[in-house]
Amino acid sequence: MGTEEQIKAAEAKFGDLIRAELARIETMKEDSEIKDFSKLDHIKIGILPGDGIGPIIMEQALRVVNELLKDEIASGRVEIHIIEGMTIERRSELNESLPQDVMEECKKCDVLVKGPFVTPRPGDPWPNLLSANSLLRRGLNLFAAVRPIKMPDRNIDWTFFRENIEGEYILGNKGIEVNEDLAIDFKVLTKPGAERIARAAFEFARKNGKKHVTVVTKANIVKLVDGNFVKTVHRIGEEEYPEIEVNDKLVDATAAKMLDPEFNKDMEVVVLPNLYGDIVTDVAAEHQGGLGTASSSNIGNKYALFEAIHGTAPYLMSHGRGNYANPCSLIRAMGEMMAHIGFADRKAILEKALEITTVTERKVVLTTETKDASAAEFTDYLIDTIKGLE
Ligand code: IPM
Ligand code: MN
Repeated sequence: MGTEEQIKAAEAKFGDLIRAELARIETMKEDSEIKDFSKLDHIKIGILPGDGIGPIIMEQALRVVNELLKDEIASGRVEIHIIEGMTIERRSELNESLPQDVMEECKKCDVLVKGPFVTPRPGDPWPNLLSANSLLRRGLNLFAAVRPIKMPDRNIDWTFFRENIEGEYILGNKGIEVNEDLAIDFKVLTKPGAERIARAAFEFARKNGKKHVTVVTKANIVKLVDGNFVKTVHRIGEEEYPEIEVNDKLVDATAAKMLDPEFNKDMEVVVLPNLYGDIVTDVAAEHQGGLGTASSSNIGNKYALFEAIHGTAPYLMSHGRGNYANPCSLIRAMGEMMAHIGFADRKAILEKALEITTVTERKVVLTTETKDASAAEFTDYLIDTIKGLE
């Protein structure tokens, strides 16, 4: 193909991408009704155990939920439904990242809790599947990743609102390889996409008595997408949340200086585009005590999905230490799920019990080493503690 032909082919692909994004904007406008869980007489919780350590830690996390929601489960108001078939082996065999039947099961639930899934990388023994996480977020319109980080000794209580669908992710596998020398990927921001994540952050700030929303981007370099993100956050803030102050920060400085008290003094609620949110929340979780201590809520208007932010831990699995994995991140995700469906009191009990078992009392300690407690032993201790508090 000559250069002119290559350009024509690239233009045609780009045109298709623009058409698909414009169509997606139309569907976003239709998804505005927010589900009210207090009005549901039946709430179905779908469980996706995941790969690697996923099924091990999920078993423990479910024991915790079965204890905390035992009355609601017994009365039938709450149903726990295990969704089968979402393993890397089956997905590889079907060559589908998110099999159709799994997606259909997910859509029949109100909320989902998932363990980690394998996302194959080049060189792995699996076909090069797309990220199932991204497909679920997109398919269920889970536009906000809400990631709380607390470090009380540093006076830190942050809630990150990461835009969860757009940015570098939405066309992550749809870049254009113009020719051998030139590859182009895309970063996307839509007006409804920016507005809904901004509103989610401000609503949370207002409901929780927070006075500041910080918007983190690289708007000095990425003029349009980041620039519009910042403008949207300011506009929504001025028009709809005038009592809340908006601060701007750059993502590189935020990653470097987040622990500096001078730098972080007004940080409470942080709103940021997808990829920056991905990176900054990992950095923050590491400071908090590791990825195993953090959880993530993926929230949309109709569905919500709760998860640990760590992966499948292939190293622990291949060293026979899967049963010693730390289930706390997934257990915290269960707490967020319970609060989301109307049981904030159970989340409160769980948080208290986690504080006792992992900070103040620590009678049973998890390190992932086999000489220390297993996930099941730790969960026994946690459930005993919960029973003492109930
Ligand atoms: C996360 C993860 C995912 C992401 C991966 C597994 C696709 O890192 O939830 O932060 O990049 O969003
Ligand atoms: Mn991540």
